Amino acid sequence: MLYSEKVMDHFQNPRNVGKIEDADGVGEVGNARCGDIMKMYLKIDDDQVITDCKFNTFGCGSAIATSSMATEMIRGKKVSEALELSNRAVVEALDGLPAHKIHCSVLAEEAVKAAVKDYYDRNGIEYDPSLFKEKPDCESCTL
Ligand code: FES
Repeated sequence: MLYSEKVMDHFQNPRNVGKIEDADGVGEVGNARCGDIMKMYLKIDDDQVITDCKFNTFGCGSAIATSSMATEMIRGKKVSEALELSNRAVVEALDGLPAHKIHCSVLAEEAVKAAVKDYYDRNGIEYDPSLFKEKPDCESCTL
């Protein structure tokens, strides 16, 4: 089968879909290759812990599944830990994606990062800009 059971589950029953009206950080990213977009909302407490997160995606099934899994993985984590979440870790948690869909998982990682950056910017928290460098397009993309 092309997609793992976990991917199908998160695609058909995505967790944490929606919008947080009073979010502390919002990130919107797009994939230039396919035109898909994703918006990530984070609620962050005074200890920099992510207490809630939601996402909206106008994108393919793999983008939906990876964002759903990513929100599950960062909820309850500190923002600094959320920044370490790699698309590879999300793909592994989903028991893999077909090679030509790996780039879809980058959208989820970048959306989380963009939302954390927004939170840092809003609160005047200093950070290392290299944390937010754009990833080069992955070689395996065949769109
Ligand atoms: Fe665009 Fe998957 S994110 S094809």
